[in-house]
Amino acid sequence: IPRTILVVGSLNTDMTTRTRRLPNPGETIVAQAFSTAPGGKGANQAVACCRLARASSDASPGNISVKMVGAVGDDEFGSCLKDSLRQNRIDVEGVVVKEGFSSGVAVIIVDEDTADNRILYTGGANEALTAQDFPGNFFSSFNPLPSILVLQLETPLQTVLHLLTLASDTSIETILNPAPARHIPLQFYSKIDHLILNESEATYLTGEEVTYLDDDAGVQSTINRFLERGVKRSVVITMGARGCYFRSSDNEEGWIRPEVQAQDVVDTTGAGDTFVGAFAVARAEGNGVVHSLNFATKAASMSIRKTGAQAGIPWRGEVQWRRKY
Ligand code: RIB
Ligand code: NA
Repeated sequence: IPRTILVVGSLNTDMTTRTRRLPNPGETIVAQAFSTAPGGKGANQAVACCRLARASSDASPGNISVKMVGAVGDDEFGSCLKDSLRQNRIDVEGVVVKEGFSSGVAVIIVDEDTADNRILYTGGANEALTAQDFPGNFFSSFNPLPSILVLQLETPLQTVLHLLTLASDTSIETILNPAPARHIPLQFYSKIDHLILNESEATYLTGEEVTYLDDDAGVQSTINRFLERGVKRSVVITMGARGCYFRSSDNEEGWIRPEVQAQDVVDTTGAGDTFVGAFAVARAEGNGVVHSLNFATKAASMSIRKTGAQAGIPWRGEVQWRRKY
């Protein structure tokens, strides 16, 4: 049976500068490089879904189709962003143009030595994607229903909460990546099947300073808090090169470590999005949480070898497995 993954989220133009250090106030320094590329957590996750569902760029679509819903401005950036998704063979029928708005932009500073990124996000049209864009019968226009709905927080919180509510009245499995972190009202956690977040987002959402390193008790107690708030199937805390820690409603839990430490790390921007997209694909194919997380960890660890959020996202055929599940 064909499966649809629906990603509702942001499309941004990423403006990335690589530098050896950040300038001080009033100081100008010479950067290493600058580039412009399509990004946005929503669009990146849609691209990840698409690439990780097919062996290579010229392979057949397989059983999974990917649909993106979002908003761009009535500017040139907007049409470029839509085109780039189309080139990845993503259905962009649902990407609307918001008159009078600029398309979303992310100014990204990548540390030349560590490959870490710092992002300044300006939502523009993404912030104009409102709950009114999704009438109560929104999902009935899909035949069949999407099997997975993927959400992040670069669109207004009210829009995301509204979609979680609509989806929870259906059999659609929901994945929320609460990035950038915003306060989620408690009653909405029970509408989330899978919550995938990093340490800084966990700190924000729990109000407790968390960096887990290898402290299992700390990460377990944070995850339990989210499960107590009502998350249905799994809570996953991603930790970059250290892998992720998860717990599922089947009481499976533990670390998922990258098989090998990534070599040639160039730019970690988009690694989290690759993780989320890969997880969505594996779930849409009917895999369990542990298998899906291993696939996501592997795909994310491969995504960091190229500059740009989308450039490094691997095709499925490039993701080699050493372990079998
Ligand atoms: O997660 C990476 C993305 O976050 C970038 O592509 C940028 O657009 C920011 O929104
Ligand atoms: Na990258």
